[in-house]
Amino acid sequence: MPLQNDLILRTLSGEKTERTPVWMMRQAGRYLPEYMVLREKYGFFERCQTPELACEITLQPIDIVGVDAAILFSDILVVPQAMGLEVQLIESKGPFLPDPIKNIADLKRVGVPDVNDRLHYVFDAIKLIKKELNDRVPLIGFAGAPWTLLCYMVQGKGSKTFDEAKAFCYAQPETAHQLLQMITDTTIAYLKGQVKAGADLVQIFDSWGGLLSPDDFEIFSLQYIRQIVAALKDEVPTIIFAKGAWFALEEMAATGAHGLGIDWCIKPAMARQFAGNNVTLQGNFDPAKLLGPIPDIQKAVKKMLTDFGPGRHIANLGHGILPNVPVDHARAFVDTVKEFRHHV
Ligand code: CP3
Repeated sequence: MPLQNDLILRTLSGEKTERTPVWMMRQAGRYLPEYMVLREKYGFFERCQTPELACEITLQPIDIVGVDAAILFSDILVVPQAMGLEVQLIESKGPFLPDPIKNIADLKRVGVPDVNDRLHYVFDAIKLIKKELNDRVPLIGFAGAPWTLLCYMVQGKGSKTFDEAKAFCYAQPETAHQLLQMITDTTIAYLKGQVKAGADLVQIFDSWGGLLSPDDFEIFSLQYIRQIVAALKDEVPTIIFAKGAWFALEEMAATGAHGLGIDWCIKPAMARQFAGNNVTLQGNFDPAKLLGPIPDIQKAVKKMLTDFGPGRHIANLGHGILPNVPVDHARAFVDTVKEFRHHV
């Protein structure tokens, strides 16, 4: 069965569409009261590991805010878990890895797993989601970029600077590269498994790519993302979202990725200049702006759409939606995009 709404896929292939498609990073999450009900009853990884729960949460924003794509409910940290590290999610604190990687000896505790064994629950969830979506909208699969996963695997928790992860890379580069390659190999098998299970496109989240200098981004992040894109891009459209890494848009476009996510700290015209004309840009609304009054949101969304211009744009936030955004503000964001038409 063809998809009833394939706007995102057509935009990624460079086709002119009747309107700009829209979804929101972290669209399934704590701003939705329906999510909070399930959060009361089940632990975070329990929600990820139970296909029925992952499916229900994935579908919530489709029904409630009307986005043009579903994104699998899971987390980037299921990969370090599958590789052998313990990962906890601590209420109001975020991820916590009690035994992080600090040196070459620690590498013995991680490995490239059989994804069909360790991550089969994700593939089961995808199959169920595809069935329940019933071809209404495409399903986005995802994984963390190797650098962003290394940040958590070494630092052991969230950080504004990830200085310990950087120290590990700069002081023990060979060990860092061994780890990055293991994460890359796992991620390629994992994303291929997601595609086989039914994901229509995939996004690579490099949330902390922008913490690196342009040279170090190439060395510790992009060369691994490039391998992932090369392995996936002929199977499904691939989007790279490297937050803050606007300096590498040209190099990211050269990977052959179909889409590049940008945050709100770069003007759409600048991003287009760096990225060239053969890639779709995704973004870049400041998520905090959804906390302002609805008329201001509507005005800012129209300005964003005008700045990007028609074609090769997927409307999105520049990072994940914040938990304190009122649902009607999220809906105003989505509706404004859906109602907007470019004068061409
Ligand atoms: O986008 C979606 O709706 C799909 C699901 C999704 C989650 N995490 C669910 C989640 C996706 C795509 C992610 C990606 C993710 N996870 C990233 C990359 C994107 C980004 O936002 O930068 C990162 C860095 C993580 C790691 C992670 N997971 C953090 C830092 C946290 C805690 C902070 C937070 O936002 O709550 C999580 C937990 C998490 N992952 C929640 C959700 C819905 C919140 C869990 C809860 O409290 O119920």
